[in-house]
Amino acid sequence: MKTTLFTAATLAFATWCSAETNTPAITFQPLPYAYDALEPHIDAKTMEIHYSRHHKAYFTNTLKALEGTDLVGKTMEAILPIIGKYPAAVRNNLGGHYNHTFFWSCLSPKGGGQPTGVLLEKINNAFGSFDAFKEAFKKAAMSRFGSGWAWLCVAQDGSLFITSTPNQDNPLMDIAEKKGTPILVIDVWEHAYYLKYQNLRASFVDSFWNIINWPHVQSLFEQAEKTNKTTTPQK
Ligand SMILES: [Fe+2]
Repeated sequence: MKTTLFTAATLAFATWCSAETNTPAITFQPLPYAYDALEPHIDAKTMEIHYSRHHKAYFTNTLKALEGTDLVGKTMEAILPIIGKYPAAVRNNLGGHYNHTFFWSCLSPKGGGQPTGVLLEKINNAFGSFDAFKEAFKKAAMSRFGSGWAWLCVAQDGSLFITSTPNQDNPLMDIAEKKGTPILVIDVWEHAYYLKYQNLRASFVDSFWNIINWPHVQSLFEQAEKTNKTTTPQK
């Protein structure tokens, strides 16, 4: 039987958040699948610790870090582009909460395969082929020294690019080296893979391709294209 994730404790916590802040702009969402749903690619124990301890700590510490700032009541999407003006605790914890929420959404027990349609065309055009894209993405994930993330993003001009960020930074932050709208991410902190893969980050990255929720990535890509069209000034 699959482990149920939306536990009574999670529900109680979510209810507490709602009661405390009335309509919280930042919430801790249940995982969209069970802890063991991504086996054998990500083991249940890693998922449980990663979500219920690491991720939850970022969420709890985000609320603490925001206390007393003018950011209370704002969404993560509103805060990320101005995060460089605030203390490191805001950047590290809100980044951690956003990145993990985003990471879970990119995965699915029914994942894998390839994207289709315009996204596949764009990937082929940008990187040469889907396999070449996988190579480049893996290189970004492997070359991130220490802890961080590798991303596929849509730039303001509509082009796709791969980047990686250290710690809990992401490409939506004003302090990011390369800014864009993320549509896919992999967490390459050791806590994401060490129990199963130990030091073999490359094996974890290779397994990641089997659990990518491409229909979701596709919808993020379409949304990014629409947003770019409405925000890019027409010549
Ligand atoms: Fe993580």
